[in-house]
Amino acid sequence: MALEKLDLHHPSTFINGFPHEYFREVRKQTPIFFQEEHPSWKDGYWNLTRHNDMYEVSRDSETFKCSPHPFMEAEKSEDQSGSENLLISLDPPDHTRMRKLVNKGFTPKRVQDLTERIQNHVDRIIDNVADKKGCDMVSDIAVELPLQVIADLVGVPVEDRHQIFEWTEMSFGFDETFTNEQRAEATMNMYIYAEGMCELRKEERQDDLISLLLDAEIDDHSLEQQQINLFFLLLQNAGSETTRNLITSGTLALLNNRDQLEKLQKNLELVPTAVEEMLRITTPVMQFKRTASVDTIVAGQKIKKGDKIFMWYPSGNRDENEFENHDQLDVARDPNHHISFGAGGPHFCLGASLARLEAKLMFEAILTRFVDLDCADDGTNLPRVYSNMIDGYSKMPITWSEVRDKDGKKLKTGSKKGNLEKLTHKLKKIEPKKVSRKLKRVEPKKVAQKLKKAKPKKLTWKKLQKKAQ
Ligand code: HEM
Repeated sequence: MALEKLDLHHPSTFINGFPHEYFREVRKQTPIFFQEEHPSWKDGYWNLTRHNDMYEVSRDSETFKCSPHPFMEAEKSEDQSGSENLLISLDPPDHTRMRKLVNKGFTPKRVQDLTERIQNHVDRIIDNVADKKGCDMVSDIAVELPLQVIADLVGVPVEDRHQIFEWTEMSFGFDETFTNEQRAEATMNMYIYAEGMCELRKEERQDDLISLLLDAEIDDHSLEQQQINLFFLLLQNAGSETTRNLITSGTLALLNNRDQLEKLQKNLELVPTAVEEMLRITTPVMQFKRTASVDTIVAGQKIKKGDKIFMWYPSGNRDENEFENHDQLDVARDPNHHISFGAGGPHFCLGASLARLEAKLMFEAILTRFVDLDCADDGTNLPRVYSNMIDGYSKMPITWSEVRDKDGKKLKTGSKKGNLEKLTHKLKKIEPKKVSRKLKRVEPKKVAQKLKKAKPKKLTWKKLQKKAQ
């Protein structure tokens, strides 16, 4: 069967979700195919469709490089300069050094230590909607959790979080209404904020990622200020857009498969296994690129040095050679070698265990607290994120008949307020108050001054970088 041509670089191609049917056909015919047309890449790009080939490419960082960057450009005008210094764009040995340093912030113990805080956020988020009969799952539930968790991890004080959230949405979000200048300005503000935090932590360390990054040293190397700024940016983006879509698309997958939803409600110990399956079936990140460093062969195809190769993770995750009943959600699927966090190799998602923990706690709450949870649409008509990289919904109206308390019991009148007060109090107690006061004192003046000076008409990544140096 002849295949129609799809502009895989263009976000509009994914307006109805990932084209699974198209890829199912391609997978049958070929493990790799070429796309000649691209608005700025004259030499086109290759696309991988099968699970095992993505494993091979991901794990061979000698032959397949992430530099200059692993992103798909959508338009001619897109300026990716600056992104070459992000962790995700580096190759060994630079990547190895930097990854070892930032790994210290994501050890199993550090992630496990966040459990109580994450649980508190989950409880608070659901308490917040408990007196309604419905809400927008995206903005009222899924967005908030990862943003709060990253802020906890990094050490952003509670009172600054909404500002950081706004900047994050503006700089990286897929809301088309923001101009490039607004995005650049928001990015600039994040840099300055990260610098401000570093200055404060140099005076007095806290138990947070910024303090840890300032102290981290390997083979006489420590991180430069600019690297910390870039990492701060990458974390906000990598940790939030992804996890929120796992929560929303995962919920919808359960609602569309009631037998699986019920099975899970009866067997809550299956939640971690179900999270892996939701990762597989929803695959929030659709692709990353590698660039061949030498002439080579991939999936039997000759590839020239400099050629771009895209790994389409949702296709690998539905590969019939790897997964039985590949299009079906099976909450008990085990083993499950999905590639939603990447297909192994040095760039495997740094936040995988954190995302898994967030999802586990959130899904446990969704399954036990909402009674008769429903979404009027199976996803066909819901608006999607406008992106060639992230697959998810931008709105998802859900309804329920009742919200239970966190032990699965009926909520008593007034108990929602009580819970909220308790949680806010708890959060306040563990917030680094002193730092937050200092930041408040230092940040607005300093940021305003710096911004006044550094406000060229058109900011670009390159200019931003120079300013931040
Ligand atoms: C459902 C949630 C998530 C998904 C699906 C996801 C997916 C991915 C993927 C596909 C990669 C690229 C792997 C590769 O190129 O081989 C990646 C890298 C990365 N992720 Fe995640 N991610 C998630 C959550 C998070 C979270 C919560 C954080 C941090 C708070 C995070 C931080 C990162 C970072 C820093 C990298 C770059 C690692 C490197 O280049 O060494 N991610 N993620």
